[in-house]
Amino acid sequence: MNNQIKQERAMRWILFWIFVVLFVLVVLGTLGAVFLGFGQLQGRERDTLFNVFLIEIGVAVVALFYSIFGLKKKAASKSTEQEDLNLIPSKYDEIFNVEQSLDFYNRIANDYDERNTNFLLQTHRQVIRTIDEFVSNKESAKILDLGGGTGRLIATQFFNKNNLKWVYLDNSSSMVEQFRKNMKDANLEIQIVFKSIFDISKELFNEVYDVIILSLVLTSLSRYPDFEALKLLLNQEGILIIADIDPVYTALEPYYSVPLSNDGILALKTNPLHPLDIIEKLSFYGFRVISSKSIKLHNGTRYSYMLVFSL
Ligand SMILES: C[S@@+](CC[C@H](N)C(=O)[O-])C[C@H]1O[C@@H](n2cnc3c(N)ncnc32)[C@H](O)[C@@H]1O
Repeated sequence: MNNQIKQERAMRWILFWIFVVLFVLVVLGTLGAVFLGFGQLQGRERDTLFNVFLIEIGVAVVALFYSIFGLKKKAASKSTEQEDLNLIPSKYDEIFNVEQSLDFYNRIANDYDERNTNFLLQTHRQVIRTIDEFVSNKESAKILDLGGGTGRLIATQFFNKNNLKWVYLDNSSSMVEQFRKNMKDANLEIQIVFKSIFDISKELFNEVYDVIILSLVLTSLSRYPDFEALKLLLNQEGILIIADIDPVYTALEPYYSVPLSNDGILALKTNPLHPLDIIEKLSFYGFRVISSKSIKLHNGTRYSYMLVFSL
């Protein structure tokens, strides 16, 4: 993928320089013919050539900006979705697909918390509020945070809740490292499981949980995790919280991009999931939705959703 982008960039620059050289030759030729008498122009030929020359310059400038610097995308709301997708990757230094998400998250873990937008934070706040309300009147509770990331946006909000046990799972060593740093000295009981979500089973944990969290994880996976195993891990009175980016927003921004502090922008082409697909899939395993919430951009576009399930 990386090589492909580099090749595309090299091709663009080769085309650019071919264009510039040809253009300079045409300009010099025309200037020579119009002002220095090369080619022995007759009658109105000189005026016509001069007008054509001006039009050539205008068209060349527009073509240059439209084709080489990709302004076409911004200017043309008429452009097709495919054209847009073809233009977008040039913004990124490296693009990953969901099969390569482990590599992506290992590379962005240090910068993950810097890129959060207001809407993403609202999504996290919604998850935090739901957990908080659910555990508030319980003497103690066990939380299973699958794909927990750096922990900064959710787990740290429960830093001082010494009646909680927080079991964290992630398969990215860099994310686990960030989580350890962020939760150092926390008052709640913490257990870190450095494994893939695809390895979850009743035997792996040997206990059931009051809250299971899948926050912004499913769209980074190439397939669904084992929901049968998830069901066995959920307390009969517990809740499963799933929050993710709405496919409406992903259609507009297919790449989840993270600028790195040491230069470059990495992007993950996520696997958009419609909330109804998740509901249908989970209902097959006996989960039912007990609440849902959507976060919208200021212009009303759907940005993310949170679904809460129970058994
Ligand atoms: C977008 S981050 C979300 C982190 C956190 N849950 C949050 O809401 O901020 C996705 C996380 O899922 C983890 N992840 C992706 N695929 C995984 C897998 N197969 N097993 C375990 N964790 C995975 C990544 O390492 C990353 O930490």
